[in-house]
Amino acid sequence: MKSLTPENILQVLKKDNVRHILTRMMSHRFRTDILSNYYKFKNITQTISYHGIPVTPNYLAELEISFLLKYADLPIDVVSQKFWDAMSPNDNNNHLQDHLEFEDKYSEISALVSDMVIISPVIKLFANRKHLDVVDVGSGKGNLGKMVVAINEINQSAFKDTSDYAFINKVLHTIDVLSSVQINFLNTDVYDWQDKENKLSNSKIKFEIQKNAFDIPAPNVSQDIAITKWCFHHMSKSQMLAQTKNLYRVLKPGGISVVIEGFMTKQHSLPEYVNDTSLTFKKQLWNTCNQLSYIDIWPEGPWKKECIQISEDYLNLPIEEQHDVLSFEDFFGHHLLNKRSTMPFPFTYIEADELINMFKQEGFTHEAHNFLIIGSAPIIRRGPFSARYIFRKPYPHEQ
Ligand SMILES: C[S@@+](CC[C@H](N)C(=O)[O-])C[C@H]1O[C@@H](n2cnc3c(N)ncnc32)[C@H](O)[C@@H]1O
Repeated sequence: MKSLTPENILQVLKKDNVRHILTRMMSHRFRTDILSNYYKFKNITQTISYHGIPVTPNYLAELEISFLLKYADLPIDVVSQKFWDAMSPNDNNNHLQDHLEFEDKYSEISALVSDMVIISPVIKLFANRKHLDVVDVGSGKGNLGKMVVAINEINQSAFKDTSDYAFINKVLHTIDVLSSVQINFLNTDVYDWQDKENKLSNSKIKFEIQKNAFDIPAPNVSQDIAITKWCFHHMSKSQMLAQTKNLYRVLKPGGISVVIEGFMTKQHSLPEYVNDTSLTFKKQLWNTCNQLSYIDIWPEGPWKKECIQISEDYLNLPIEEQHDVLSFEDFFGHHLLNKRSTMPFPFTYIEADELINMFKQEGFTHEAHNFLIIGSAPIIRRGPFSARYIFRKPYPHEQ
């Protein structure tokens, strides 16, 4: 496999099946019915346009991908500039030009919804705690911590309600463990690209810049939950190993490491089904996407069937092409859409097995039953085809 770099990344578009699936993923990004029907934004026109001409999401996706394919052999800086000149009618790189008013809110909310549905079940595992120490390694803008702490505050006020119904709410955790726990949230990253408002807004969130890419600036045995979200594929292999060791070091016994990463597998089995050969891969995927507990990730609606189909087709690709899809998506989002100049692109996506083994070798146990395939779920508007892995640092008596 020739290694992918930003200079040759557009070559992946020359492979028909990679290009087709990427086009469908891009097209899903431009759906507007999710804005009105799922996110409940008002006054959403159900059309999008390209330079003033109404187009379908699929048409716009095809236009962008074929544009990049046409110039795939030019130096990447030249193609990027051409793309920005042709595709961004103004300085705002948002894609849904007809919905600018909603676009930023949509991006923020959809990211936060997905963060919450992925993280809050983990927080529920600590339902009886009074205090919880959580670190987000590679926290980027720090949106996840902002959301957890904001929901924590909203729920705490609901917790004070003494009515009977409010009592039931508490017992069933309908308002969530986030109502009763005090959360100390620590963000760390090699770069400080937090939003200014995040920095100022909340004293419960701390940010520590890492002295290097091999470090997590938190004391030994200090954290209950350690999150790394879409972070490993921006590291070299040696950084990955060092950070996995650090995650083990900073967690308390019984602590949980939540890893959200691009998902690749050639096994044709999801990690939760690895000892169960009774179900076909397609059935495994179908079961997961339809579980009641994942309804927030795979909400019912006209988009669901399409998202399951994209997920299934992605998982049927050979591993090298899964890697192509993830890498292109990464480059497209960070470089072509957001012009992030400090983001490294080593494209170090690794297979599910390798990632699980890396954590096991450090002493973690893999909680396969809590594995979650996020895939191209309807609520993932941006970000790679992903999965959530849960690893636990055992108590001394379990080792
Ligand atoms: C794609 S962003 C994800 C940011 C955030 N977690 C999110 O989900 O929006 C990847 C982040 O990983 C950070 N990163 C890269 N190498 C790292 C390392 N060795 N240790 C910690 N963070 C790293 C980058 O600076 C960047 O903020």
